[in-house]
Parts: sequence; structure tokens; C-alpha cells
Amino acid sequence: MYLTKEEEKVYDGEYGWANQVAMKILVRLGDLFAATKLIPIKSAHISGVSYKTLGDAPIDFLEALANAGAKAQVPSTLNPSSLDFDYLAKNFPKEYRTQQLSITSFYEKMGVKPVFTCTPYYISKPQPDSHLAWAESSASVYANSVLESWTNREGGPSALAAALIGKTPNYGVHQAENRQADVQVKVEDEPRNQMEFGALGIHVGKLLKNKIPVFEGLPNYTDDCLKQLGAGLASSGMSTMFRYKEPYAERRLETVSIEKNEIENTVESLSTRWETPDLIFIGCPHCSLNEVRNVAQALEGKKVKEDTKLWVCTSRYVKGKAEKHVKIIEKAGGHVLCDTCAVVTWINKLGIDAVMTNSAKTAYYAPTLNKVNVRLAPLNQCVNTAGG
Ligand code: F3S
Repeated sequence: MYLTKEEEKVYDGEYGWANQVAMKILVRLGDLFAATKLIPIKSAHISGVSYKTLGDAPIDFLEALANAGAKAQVPSTLNPSSLDFDYLAKNFPKEYRTQQLSITSFYEKMGVKPVFTCTPYYISKPQPDSHLAWAESSASVYANSVLESWTNREGGPSALAAALIGKTPNYGVHQAENRQADVQVKVEDEPRNQMEFGALGIHVGKLLKNKIPVFEGLPNYTDDCLKQLGAGLASSGMSTMFRYKEPYAERRLETVSIEKNEIENTVESLSTRWETPDLIFIGCPHCSLNEVRNVAQALEGKKVKEDTKLWVCTSRYVKGKAEKHVKIIEKAGGHVLCDTCAVVTWINKLGIDAVMTNSAKTAYYAPTLNKVNVRLAPLNQCVNTAGG
């Protein structure tokens, strides 16, 4: 990979150890994927924040970087952490809180904003055609597909390295020729709600692996539905993006048809138990303002049952904008959590072993990552179950 004279100096350590480490990560990645050079990025979004998923091992490395003067060169944000300090933190051992606070403090020292959300695009929307380095698969697929920005699906370390250098290697979907659809996906019966869009994503992700689909047959999509579609696609497969606006591809593409029963079967296969849930979880990926409003409307006049928890997860930014909806949800006995989600905190340590959700992504991961049973259902059914 070609490096400018200045980049070579960084590589050789003339700008300190932290910058050298970051540059070496980027060059290694670039060489692996046959990139020809580094290109400037507008922002970075970094995963690897939750103490639950990260563990102790990388904390020393983050501390060393922060103490060596590492500084983000572009606006950089953090994915959800393991704790909501207003509501959840008191339920866990002090050690968890201390370790989570340490992780956060090292990122902050490096100039990374602790927004703790997987939907950073609600806080600041990147420009179309801008190059980014975003980790968090649901956010990078949304950025490429809906916002028309350009980012590979970064891992935590490569997103952090890109933040510290302000650049990323020019491979993958940073190149226009790699953003073309590979497969035309004809959806015979349009999904009826966000949950079904997510299930469609899971099903197509399994079928196509890392190929880029162009969907045909989704005339009534909303951005919230597309968010679920991308989150599902990125969970079961490695696609970096999907297309949905131009069903008539210029070249002849391999075509697959998706029948209604395939979506229904996916919903069923993602549900591991159909008994009473301990937790109803809405907000994977973190809710938009519109989604918080939908929960509040569906919950109005209801009371969450004594033995059930209702969590609505979003960013502090969206929660701030949704004050009157938050009041309705909290008056009904639900909780609007920020900075975390049911997957990246220790729900099984709270005595939760059955979760009901409208998120296909959570249904896909929670049985393995959280050792809980899951029931996947549309939003209204989730809220009705919570509110008895
Ligand atoms: Fe976000 Fe947690 Fe889902 S980080 S995408 S709400 S698993």
C-alpha cells in the first residue's frame, strides 16, 4: 500500500507510539485487502465499549494508548456500553461499574465522544458520499444503504485506529465498483412491520453471505423498517450494504424470490420459547424518535404487569427529544434506558431468562450471547404483552 512521506513518518514512529500502532493496524488491514492507499474519513464510530462483551484483556491496551497521547483526528463516537448508570448500574457488582467507567475514561481521553449508541446517525447524519470508518454492523449497513455514505464494516480496533489517524484504507465499499448489487431479491409479499423487515434481513443474510442484494417489492418501507432490514442482514451475513431504490439492475443479476412463508418460518425459528417473558425489549438497534413515540402511543392507558419489565433503549440524544413520550412510558411502568441495551448488559444476572422483542437482531444473538430464550413478535404484540 502506498504511503505518503508524512504517513511513513507516522509508521516509523516519529509521531509517537500510539500513532504508530494505529498506522500499523491500518496498513496491515490495507495490505490484507489489497488497498492502494489511505483516504481521509469524516467520522469514526467505535465498538468494543461494553465491559460485558470486551472483558478485562483490552483495557490495558486502551489505557496505554490514552496515556501515550492518542487523539482522535475526526469526530468519533462510541457504541453502547454495558450499563445505564441511572437505572441499571446499582444491580451489578461495583467491579463492573469501575471497569466500565475505566474503559469510557480512556476513550474520552482520546477525544472519543461517549454517546453510547448504535444509532449515531440520529445525533449527526453523515453526508452522502462521505467516507467513514464505522464499526457496529447495523450502523455501517444503514450508513451505506440508507444514508449513502461509504464505510466498510469495521471492527473496534480498526475503527479506533482510523479515528486516531483520520484515514482508512481504500478497499471494499470505499470503491464505487464494489457498491453494485450482486443479487436481485424479489420479495413476493412485502413485510408488514419492522419485525418482519428484520426477519427478511436475517433470512437474506443467511442466503447471500457477503453479497450485496437489491430488493424489489418493498414499496412501503420506512427508514425504521430499513434499519431493521439492515440489522438483520448484518447479523446472519457479512453484507456491507443493500440497495432498494433501483430494482431494475443494469446488468442481469442472479435472482432469488422470497415467499411469505420464508419470512414466517424465519420469525418462528428465531423464537425459542413462547411462554411468558420476563423482559420486553424494544430498541435494537437503538430507537429513533418515531419508534419511542410508537411505543408510547401503543402503551397509553396501559400498566406494565408487576412481574414483567419493559425496556425501551435509545440514545440520550433521542431520549432528550422524546420527553413527553418518555413520560407516558415511565408512567405506565416501563423504563427508557440509555447507553446500553439488553444484549450488551448482563440480563441473565437480573434473573431474566425469557425476552420478548420486535428485533430480529436481538432474537438472533440473545440466545447465545445472553443465554436467554427469545420470543420475536411485532411491536404491538410486545406492548400488549407488557401491558397485560
Ligand atoms: Fe444496538 Fe444492542 Fe442491538 S448495541 S444494534 S441495541 S444489540
